[in-house]
Amino acid sequence: MATTQSTDAEASKSSGKSSRRMLAVMDMSNLLRHVFEYEREIVRTATTLIYRVGEPELKYLLCQHVWESAQHARFLRERGREMAGFGSGEKVRSDIRKIFEEAVKPEDGMVALAGFYRVLKPALLEAYRYYLKETDHLADWPSKQLLQAFIEDEERHAAEMTAYLEGVEASDWADHLEAALSSIGGLLGIREKEDLPAGFVWEHEKEGFSHPAVCNRGKYPVCSGVFGHDPDVDPIMRPWLEEKANTDPAILRLMVYVWLMMELDAVDYLATIFYDTPEAPLDMHYDMARHLWDESRHSQFGFRQLPRLGVDIMTVEHSLDLYCILVQMPAPERYAMMTMEFEAGSFPTKAYLIDRLHELNDFEMDTLLAFDRNDEQNHVRYGHQWLKPLMGLFGVETEVGEFVKATKEKFEEVAKQFGGKIPHTLSPEERLTANKIKKIAGVN
Ligand SMILES: [Fe+2]
Ligand SMILES: [Fe+2]
Repeated sequence: MATTQSTDAEASKSSGKSSRRMLAVMDMSNLLRHVFEYEREIVRTATTLIYRVGEPELKYLLCQHVWESAQHARFLRERGREMAGFGSGEKVRSDIRKIFEEAVKPEDGMVALAGFYRVLKPALLEAYRYYLKETDHLADWPSKQLLQAFIEDEERHAAEMTAYLEGVEASDWADHLEAALSSIGGLLGIREKEDLPAGFVWEHEKEGFSHPAVCNRGKYPVCSGVFGHDPDVDPIMRPWLEEKANTDPAILRLMVYVWLMMELDAVDYLATIFYDTPEAPLDMHYDMARHLWDESRHSQFGFRQLPRLGVDIMTVEHSLDLYCILVQMPAPERYAMMTMEFEAGSFPTKAYLIDRLHELNDFEMDTLLAFDRNDEQNHVRYGHQWLKPLMGLFGVETEVGEFVKATKEKFEEVAKQFGGKIPHTLSPEERLTANKIKKIAGVN
């Protein structure tokens, strides 16, 4: 049976006889506490993989896994709070945190990915299995049910990641992380702590992690922005989206799918906020993980539908400007621009487009846009709920309205310096432009 080690558990243990009578519960709640903190750290740090790997499908998958980890953490917290010794706080102990500070360090995003999926996630799966083996299935039935579901999730995560990890050589890094985990007694802290091998150096103690200045899009063509005014240069014409232009809905459909696909930029810059907020309440990261997964689905709408409508996806350049600009600003400013400006400001244009696209009797498009609108309303709500606490984490005491106004002005300034720097991968002849969209839509 496991020994009780958490500070919370120690504190209540010292309260005497009553806690001794619940020792079996406290042993188990201590294990739950460890996996809770571990899942929290996965949410905070596996998000750093998203903008460092290049393949959109892999980014989408990571967003889904992170969202599921956030759900695990929340369920563990709810169950944990029913059990003596779990503790009422949400803090992560330093031993667990340092493992994840280390895990984000590899320069190569695929090596970091391998560390998570070959070492850290398998250790979690093993811990869930250990808990099920140790606990009494009748007495602790509520935990058992949760853990059985989490085990299925973790097994599926491993299976879903297999293809992406094929051929990734990261055995040195995996050994390094294994040694780090062993040095804290494994993730549950119940094994004997092993000495670190000779010559082991904690990479994160040499230098902390920082977000790359440009997000990775692998083999896909990139550019600074996709909205423009020249139909022979850019794919989305702002004036064509307006009511007075009365653009054919078949053209608008393709432009909207390009627009949706470009929400991959939102995925990449939103993903940077988790790492920057180690003291965030779980519920903040939970809503942001949901937000992240929503954006990844919106991007998938475009990524999957465009080829079906005749667009060669390798001709669609990905716009990187928003990431490049926002990553230069602190996390609360990134989040303020996203929720209070980009999202809150997109409703009128999208409302008009939804109405026009309805003329196509394209049930799929109608459905995707209806869900997109629903999701976006939630995102603006998250913004109203979390911007102030997020500002608080950075010691910003300005009134929210003023902060948003100042942030918009700052964004314009930062954009002058860091925007427009990504050259087109493709020539105008090669890339998807508005005039080519017109042709593909069959409109003269
Ligand atoms: Fe979106
Ligand atoms: Fe959104």
